[in-house]
Amino acid sequence: MTTNQQRFETVSELQHAIADAFCQTVEETLREQPAFRVSLSGGSTPKRLYELLAERDLPWDRIHWCWGDERNVPHDHADSNAKMVRDALLDRIEVPDANVHPVPVIVDSPAESAANYRETLHQLFPDETFPSWDLVLLGMGDDGHTASLFPHTAALQEDTSWFVENWVEKFDAYRYTLTAPAINSAKRIWFIVSGGNKRSAFESVMSDDSEAATFPSKLIDPTQWWLTEDVLKV
Ligand code: 6PG
Repeated sequence: MTTNQQRFETVSELQHAIADAFCQTVEETLREQPAFRVSLSGGSTPKRLYELLAERDLPWDRIHWCWGDERNVPHDHADSNAKMVRDALLDRIEVPDANVHPVPVIVDSPAESAANYRETLHQLFPDETFPSWDLVLLGMGDDGHTASLFPHTAALQEDTSWFVENWVEKFDAYRYTLTAPAINSAKRIWFIVSGGNKRSAFESVMSDDSEAATFPSKLIDPTQWWLTEDVLKV
């Protein structure tokens, strides 16, 4: 895939631009196919984007919302990505319940949770080797992780399963995540990265001299980087 970089002075300009691009992409896609299937990023940067999307007028009944990763907490927990997206977007639009596909977290049984979500995804993308998302939105942490593909974790090695539970030592907790091949199969992959604290990780991810095991965002072949200037070299 070819990768472009869109750069913005402020995170607000970035988020408004992505909201415009998201709407344009949905409209273009829905001229050619019945549904638009998107995998959402968690974290704080995309929250404002989701709030902006809630103010737009899109064919909500033709968009399917999935999560690229989730924390091992109930959906009403403050750390839940499902809660964040519901609060910012889904509870503010008329979207059919059948179009919303949160990770069915069973806190005490991460393997079962991941297996159940794999089933959901295989039903959304029947007979596909990997899911042909219309769009995957990703953030990047200051350690170079994306989704819940954290440095030196088992999920980085997964090359066939679409979605797995992933033990993250530094959190002493499980996370849930799309695997790299299940992200790279998307038609569009957008990284949304803002903050000077991410400059070093971004440089490492873009460098040929670093390892994907240490900077997992290197595993991804994005079509677009959406960046604020503070992420780039001064
Ligand atoms: C999560 C995200 C994670 C996030 C990065 C960046 O569940 O936290 O999916 O991968 O995108 O940690 O988060 P910010 O955008 O909040 O810096």
